[in-house]
Amino acid sequence: MTKHILVTGGAGYIGSHVVRKLIDNGYTVSILDNLINGNKESVPSEVAFYKIDLGDISELRKLFDENNFDAVMHFAAFIEAGVSMKKPAEFFANNCINGSYLLNEMLRHGVKKIIFSSTAAVYGNPIGNKIKEDHPLNPVNHYGRTKLIFEELLRMYKESYDLEYIALRYFNASGADESAEIGEDHDPETHLIPLVLKTVLGERENIKIFGTDYGTPDGTCVRDYIHVNDLANAHILALERLFKNGESDVFNLGNGKGFSVEQVIDSAKKITGKDFKVIKTNRRKGDPAVLVADSTKARDILKWNPKYTSIDDIIKTAWRWHKKHPNGYNN
Ligand SMILES: NC(=O)c1ccc[n+]([C@@H]2O[C@H](COP(=O)([O-])OP(=O)(O)OC[C@H]3O[C@@H](n4cnc5c(N)ncnc54)[C@H](O)[C@@H]3O)[C@@H](O)[C@H]2O)c1
Repeated sequence: MTKHILVTGGAGYIGSHVVRKLIDNGYTVSILDNLINGNKESVPSEVAFYKIDLGDISELRKLFDENNFDAVMHFAAFIEAGVSMKKPAEFFANNCINGSYLLNEMLRHGVKKIIFSSTAAVYGNPIGNKIKEDHPLNPVNHYGRTKLIFEELLRMYKESYDLEYIALRYFNASGADESAEIGEDHDPETHLIPLVLKTVLGERENIKIFGTDYGTPDGTCVRDYIHVNDLANAHILALERLFKNGESDVFNLGNGKGFSVEQVIDSAKKITGKDFKVIKTNRRKGDPAVLVADSTKARDILKWNPKYTSIDDIIKTAWRWHKKHPNGYNN
């Protein structure tokens, strides 16, 4: 019998890509999403879609009563680090408390396997070059704190209730499915690649580089961009691992290669064949110079092998999506 996976936040950017990979791999998929930041248009027709808020315990219970899930993938969360600094209560409520309702319903119904979307933001300012999973956990924003709190909850529930989990700490998710049918459509958008491509499309007047005097080769910040379908593949591998031996663990998911803001901009100019206005301005508070993953553990244990290793290849897929959908899912 095919395994039935509940995907919370499955109408969001990363969730929608993972949903397609799950279907491709023969899983039955149900999505729970309140559509606060998700898009119903991204949901494939063969998937059961439930417009439910995770905070609605009675709807959540009904969903679990009526289905036999084998595992859960938990993407639903608030994700904007900047907003989290102004709205810690909302972030704690959604990312921690609502998440705990999900775990409680899982246990109540004997569902004991979960893949959790964690983040590089749990590490805070990096010590040394590439970040490994054993790097100190010192988040510098409330978003990262809520994700770390939820990871801790998973560790508590594993110890006391035998919940089995894999927490995947993503670096900068980017790119879009090759089909250009689904892609990144956040509102407000704060991620560099979509912002740059929106500038190409004339939706923004310019792109700002915050700081050109960092200790990096070209002076601009370096980040680890990991293609969303590489992330999706890692989720399938993590799920298979949970089904096989149920060993709880934490993995970084990154490209392992850093690209600077200037490299991203240059690549976007090359791929799109368009020039646009770039404004060099002062550093922003709280931006580390370099954030790059060491994903050796995921490669060794999950046998994960990311395919999109160049920034050009990642931007090509993002450009195809943005060109086809200049207003995101609205057209
Ligand atoms: N995008 C990145 O680069 C990145 C990096 C690291 C970690 N993550 C994590 O990955 C996950 C997915 O990120 P994304 O970029 O796809 O975000 P997204 O905002 O596109 O997707 C999140 C989805 O969750 C839904 N949601 C939020 N709160 C909900 C609730 N209470 N009930 C039901 N649905 C709810 C939203 O409607 C949305 O569809 C998040 O947990 C995020 O923290 C993302």
